[in-house]
Amino acid sequence: MMERLNQSVAYIKARLTAQPAIALILGTGLGDFADLMQDAVTIPYGDIPHFPVSTAPYHKGQLVAGTIGEKYVLVMQGRFHYYEGYSMQEIGFPIRVLKLLGIKTLFVSNAAGAINESYRVGDLMMMTDHIKFFNDTPLRGQNIDAFGPRFNDMSTAYTPALQGLAQKIADEKGIDLQQGVYAYMPGPCYETPAEIRMLGILGADAVGMSTVPEVITAAHSGMDVFGISFCVNMAAGLCKKIEHLDFSKTAIENFKLLISEMIKAL
Ligand code: HPA
Repeated sequence: MMERLNQSVAYIKARLTAQPAIALILGTGLGDFADLMQDAVTIPYGDIPHFPVSTAPYHKGQLVAGTIGEKYVLVMQGRFHYYEGYSMQEIGFPIRVLKLLGIKTLFVSNAAGAINESYRVGDLMMMTDHIKFFNDTPLRGQNIDAFGPRFNDMSTAYTPALQGLAQKIADEKGIDLQQGVYAYMPGPCYETPAEIRMLGILGADAVGMSTVPEVITAAHSGMDVFGISFCVNMAAGLCKKIEHLDFSKTAIENFKLLISEMIKAL
């Protein structure tokens, strides 16, 4: 594992022009964020030794390095999902590469279904916590102590100070920001209405098929994490049928503004 990680890291490092401390994973429909970056250098995942290659629709599958304001950041345009056939360890691999590249703060984003009935399609939800049901985890198997402990604490996996910063910027810029709990489901089928009722009773506000393995891996290695869900539909049972995901332009613009302002403020 370490040897493969080090080969990925060496390949990427040779193409960077500065030391990044911040990385972002762009969820479905949010890939445009990379357009805000100056002096961008693009590295296709397929060129990086041992890196998985994303097959999901709307996911470009490349790493973009560049600046937002004064900050040099790495952006993963496209990510890896369990439903594509990757193992949890494979999904965690890029996060460990980011850690070894010196990333201290990770922003994660996703498209999600809204469970909280006070939410509307197009809402942005700051992730305060998550619920994960299925058994597999990226940390299963021999622990690599160099990253973190065997049994790591998840009490503040979503860094409270980053949530405070997000709320402050959202208030200043007039961006509506929900906050809530994200339930991780395996997909690729959407949930049944009964599953959504269950998730709601258990305290979930939104549901999706990504992000949680990445957050677990990042938290294990001590990174600060900020997560945001873009509600592109009401979850099953709260709408007639999930046929159409609504990638509202206003929400995408608000996402870009919020995240870029947060990066500048770090
Ligand atoms: N469920 C799971 N994942 C999703 C949904 C949903 O309703 N919408 C977008 N990703």
